Amino acid sequence: MTRLELIRALPKAELHVHIEGTFEPELMFEIAQRNQIAIPYKSVEEVKQAYNFHNLQSFLDIYYAGANVLIVEQDFYDLAWAYFEKCHADHVTHTEMFFDPQTHTDRGVAFATVINGLQRACDDANSKLGISSHLIMCFLRHLTEQAAFETLEQALPFKDQIIAVGLDSSEVGHPPSKFAGVFAKAREYGFLAVAHAGEEGPAEYVWQALDLLQVNRIDHGVRSEEDPELMQRLIVEKMPLTVCPLSNLKLCVVDDMAQHNIRRLLQQGVHVTVNSDDPSYFGGYMNDNFIAIAEALDLSNDELKQLAKNSFDAAFISATEKQKWAAKIDALV
Ligand code: HPA
Ligand code: ZN
Repeated sequence: MTRLELIRALPKAELHVHIEGTFEPELMFEIAQRNQIAIPYKSVEEVKQAYNFHNLQSFLDIYYAGANVLIVEQDFYDLAWAYFEKCHADHVTHTEMFFDPQTHTDRGVAFATVINGLQRACDDANSKLGISSHLIMCFLRHLTEQAAFETLEQALPFKDQIIAVGLDSSEVGHPPSKFAGVFAKAREYGFLAVAHAGEEGPAEYVWQALDLLQVNRIDHGVRSEEDPELMQRLIVEKMPLTVCPLSNLKLCVVDDMAQHNIRRLLQQGVHVTVNSDDPSYFGGYMNDNFIAIAEALDLSNDELKQLAKNSFDAAFISATEKQKWAAKIDALV
């Protein structure tokens, strides 16, 4: 099999995707019109031209503005369903999607509206496309810990539909330590935990996510390489990093894909996975991310298979499921 054929044939799990970041401009226009909400762009082309970012914040400003048109349950269903169709095309067979409740509840949209729309799409993806999924609720770190506590309480009636809590938005200046209390409470309630750390923020934030938030995975984490002691810990604990190559390029975390450290991390024994983050904004879904690193870093077929196996291994699924996917991946030649 050629490298490209292998990328397409590999079953893959996606562990780092913000559902609001899969919002394609075409659907954004359609929903804006349906809800009679004005958006500051005249055409899809004009929207795409605005997707020129120089750091995380310049992206987040546009990303939150886009989410403003989502109002009713069907909007959230349509958003998630469009993403599941992309998963199907890329042979992503399992996905664990982030959603940002505060982005919606702060505009007066009920928590139930958001989660019911997403859940219905997850159910349909399972029955119609054979794709399994989990939802991960993220706290916005630019807001207070008190606001995160309130969101956690709102989530309790839907606890069985949410596998984990996460932490996203503006990283620098909002360290994981700010949310130690709410993560402890969430873990007490039985949620698993993940957190964005070491994207723009320093390796110190990764230490904090591990020690203070007691996360099961680190989202991004690419700056861990700056701290050899941290690298040792990640390797020994087999702590997964959900790396997002095209995101890192678009947000100028790396200048050039040829300089991305995912291959070095993999070769040193870090449990890295490939993910799309906000694919509508960053220029590609799962397979586009695989292709970009495979070409820029000249990855071998064995390395690609390892990355796909890592994705299931790091997923919140049973050991039996993990073994099933590993066997399917091993069988590809
Ligand atoms: N980092 C932090 N917050 C986010 C991101 C990201 O890459 N995408 C959506 N919210
Ligand atoms: Zn992210």
